[in-house]
Order: sequence, then C-alpha cells, then structure tokens
Amino acid sequence: MNIEGSNILVGISGGIAAYKSAEMVSLLQKKGANVRVVMTENAVKFISPITFQTLTGFPARTDLFGNWSKNYIPHIGNAQWADAVVVIPATANIIGKIACGIADDLLTATIAAVTVPVILAPSMNSAMYENPIVQKNIAFLRQHGYYFAEPAWGRLACGTEGRGRLAPVEDIVAFLEKVLTLQDDLSSLKFLITAGGTREPIDPVRYISNRSSGKMGYALAEAARRRGASVTLVSAPTCLSPPPGVRVVHVESALDMLKACEEHFVDADVLIMAAAVADYTPENYRRQKIKKGQGVPEINLKPTPDIVKELSGQRKAQFIVAFAAETDDLEYNARQKIIDKDLDLIVANDINKGIFGSDNTWISLLDRQGVIARYSDISKKEAAEIILSTVAERLSDRN
Ligand code: C5P
Repeated sequence: MNIEGSNILVGISGGIAAYKSAEMVSLLQKKGANVRVVMTENAVKFISPITFQTLTGFPARTDLFGNWSKNYIPHIGNAQWADAVVVIPATANIIGKIACGIADDLLTATIAAVTVPVILAPSMNSAMYENPIVQKNIAFLRQHGYYFAEPAWGRLACGTEGRGRLAPVEDIVAFLEKVLTLQDDLSSLKFLITAGGTREPIDPVRYISNRSSGKMGYALAEAARRRGASVTLVSAPTCLSPPPGVRVVHVESALDMLKACEEHFVDADVLIMAAAVADYTPENYRRQKIKKGQGVPEINLKPTPDIVKELSGQRKAQFIVAFAAETDDLEYNARQKIIDKDLDLIVANDINKGIFGSDNTWISLLDRQGVIARYSDISKKEAAEIILSTVAERLSDRN
C-alpha cells in the first residue's frame, strides 16, 4: 500500500515533542495521505486540537464518549477507518497502557481495537526510556507486532543528554511508508508453511519428538496472512493458537506431515518448511502400552521421508525455503542442504544460542550463492518479516 491515498490516524500523547506532530501531520498530507488526529487529555496541555483541526479539516478528538451515536462509536469508527496508526510522541505512560491492554481514553481504546499496523515513536527523558519496565513494555509490544520508530540520542527538553529524543519526523514518515508497503505485497500468493516438532509414536502413550515450539512457523504464517497471502499452515503439535485467517491442518508424525504437504503443495506458490521434522521414527508402532518390568525395550528406528526433498523433486515453479538448525559449522551445513534438498533459500539457526521455545532467534539467510544476511537476537516476528521480504524480492526478480 502507498502512503498516497492511505488513511493515517495520528495519535498524540502528552510529551513536549507533541508540537512536532503538527509537522508530521502536514508532511503526511503533502504525501497525499488522509489524516485524522486523536489526542490524549495530556497532549492537549502541550498543543491545541485547533492546530490539527486547521491542518486536517477534521476535529482532533480526545473524548471516548463525545460524538457517540447509535450508528457511530468513535474508537471503533477510528479503528475501522485507519490503514495505520502512528503515535507521536509515545510517552512511557501510553506505552505502558497499551502493553497492559488499558483502553480508558479515545486513543488507547482505538489502539486496542485496530488490526492495522501501529507505529510508536517514543520521546521521553533518557532515564525514563532506559527504565527496565519501559524497556520490558517495548519488548513485549514488539513481540506482539507493534513497530517502534527508535528515539534518537541528543539533548533533551529536560536539559539532560541521552537517548529519548523523538526520531526525526521525516524518518518516522519513511518508516511508516516501509511498514505500509509490507501490507499487501504477498496478496496474489499461496503459501504452504509447516511448523512445530513432529511426534513419532512408540506406543499409545509415548513418542519421540524435539524441542521445537512452532513459534517461528506460526510467526511466518501470521505475517504472510497479514501481508495478503493465502496461507495453509501444516502444524505438528504446539501450544500456540492458530493465527487469524490462516487455514491450519493439524498433523502429528512426519508421515502425516508429508501427506498433508503433498496435498497442498500442488497449488502453492511458496513452501516454507519451518517444522522440525523428526529424522527417525520407530520401526514398529506397539498397539499396546509397553509395560515397565518387562526389561528395557528395544526400539529400532527407521528414517522418515525428507519432506522438503520429496516436494522439491515434485516442484513446478514453487519457491522453496527450508530451515537448518545446527550446533556446528552453521553456514557450511546450511549450504550443503540448499544443494542436497534443491532449495531456493535456507534460514540457518544457531542452536547454541538457545532458540528453542524462545521468542528471539539468531539467523543467517543463504541462497545458492552464499550468505545474504545475518541477524542476531531478533524476535521471531521480525525474522518472519525479513524472510518474507526476501521471498517477495526473489519472486519479483523472477517476473
Ligand atoms: O536435514 P535437516 O533435518 O537438517 O533439514 C532441515 C530442513 O529440512 C527443515 O526445513 C525441515 O523442515 C526439513 N526436513 C524435512 N523432512 C525431514 C527432515 C527435515 O522436510 N524428514
């Protein structure tokens, strides 16, 4: 989506940098965006709503209950109208309220109701910004898909020097433009994504599995859907809730996963194998529970089918991405897999960093030519966006 013609809701909270929001509203309008403004009670102490009414031609609202009618509920109306929300400045207070799900004024209630991207542009004293609780709230919101336009280092209104200055308005607008382009760049594509660790049954009670949480695959499915793709997620057991709008096929074993993937691969444009598929499965499934006291059972294993390799052998034009989780020689092993499994792209994970179950990850992205990029300690949601952007770029190079 382009900024020109988009509906941008500008939220203003009560910090000294509130005066810069007028500059942002006018820059957005110059770029052709439709802008409406919502302010907190404290923001009004720094800058007048009349300024924004004059700039936009619409009243800058503050009151959750003003303008309410049977047919118009302001925070829901705002949420449905907006293509994106930018909060400038975002104070420690509003960041904390959003992180806690508090919705006690028009701006926080609107933010609770939106499903579109929300960009927060923090501005505050550097000690407040570095306060561990504020940082925890920022990290938590990032994990839930909120975007942050990082504050700059410099002299602050309170006279101290440090990180906490509002990012330059032009940078916030450029950031918004980038976020908007991520909204529908995958809209004509069908994604098949796998997630979770398969379970290989030994008897009705026991199974062999691995430490995969499924978070990476679910983050990919959610982001691909949000970016407009039609998504089928073939999921081995996880504790995660299905992402909205995604078709989920639940499977247990590697063999089940292969069957489900084969069914949906034919139609797919992109396959992303984020699942941790067990490499071995018990040779014989015991229909009755193996009893203790009958000696240590001997469980023979046989290899599972290599799903991604089978599918790449059947591919027409599908773009195929796999993962490589390694403890040693990460990028060397990942490159071997690109060739062996005939992949377009591989995401190499350094297991030594303790990524299993974590919300964060360390990744290297590789194609047949070698390493494209490396990212340390980023959230799996950020990693999902990066992987999808790389897929989108590669597909557009093909056309
Ligand atoms: O060979 P390795 O298991 O390290 O390869 C990892 C990649 O291959 C992952 O993308 C995983 O989903 C996929 N894989 C598979 N079938 C298997 C084992 C792994 O598709 N049996």
